Amino acid sequence: MKSTRLARAMEKGSRFGREELESAWQNAEVSALYRLADAGVRVPVPYGCFDGVLLMEMVSDGAGHPAPRLSEVDFTPEEARDCHGRLLREVVRMLCAGLVHGDLSEYNILMDPQGPVIIDLPQAVDAAGNNHARPMLERDVANLASFFGQFAPELLESRYGAEIWALYESGELTPESELTGMVEDDDTPADLDSLLREIMDAREEAERRREREAGHDD
Ligand SMILES: Nc1ncnc2c1ncn2[C@@H]1O[C@H](COP(=O)(O)OP(=O)(O)O)[C@@H](O)[C@H]1O
Ligand SMILES: [Mg+2]
Repeated sequence: MKSTRLARAMEKGSRFGREELESAWQNAEVSALYRLADAGVRVPVPYGCFDGVLLMEMVSDGAGHPAPRLSEVDFTPEEARDCHGRLLREVVRMLCAGLVHGDLSEYNILMDPQGPVIIDLPQAVDAAGNNHARPMLERDVANLASFFGQFAPELLESRYGAEIWALYESGELTPESELTGMVEDDDTPADLDSLLREIMDAREEAERRREREAGHDD
């Protein structure tokens, strides 16, 4: 099951040796899985890396088969809103633990009888100090809205990604933060003082020009 990922990493043909490459991606994913489980996010339990393959708990459908992906499950509008809310809560818990999934979609979420389980984390990034973290988080959240929006169309209008990031950036995000899905567009100039200074400078410059021109007439 994990061999696809190994093949993908090996294909890159980078300057890394096989062992370095393997340990790099495995450790990132294993450590992300542990960090997320500690933060209360539902992820499979990792068992370790054997022969370059990451073994983990099989998420089961309750009848001994692998659980279906979210993409294979149908929802009533009510169920869609509920499951969307649970997954947003998971995204917030991840971010509170300092991580952004980066490839979250209906294909990387499994549905077991207790609800959604997040998988496929080799590209998870540290939220702090990574320029890509914000767009990655916003894309993850937008993917959830567009999937669940098929069943509950009002979710297509929501802006949870921007809201979550704004709370995170201001240090206010907690796993319990209330979310509305709405953010106010900020149309005040970023720096009102410097805008005023520019207007004053332009006025003074015009004044000086008039004085110079008046001087030439003498
Ligand atoms: N822990 C797991 N339990 C059950 N099925 C899994 C598990 N991990 C992955 N799968 C199945 O394998 C597929 C591919 O795994 P994934 O981790 O998404 O790798 P990738 O997308 O990189 O190939 C998933 O879509 C899912 O159907
Ligand atoms: Mg996947």
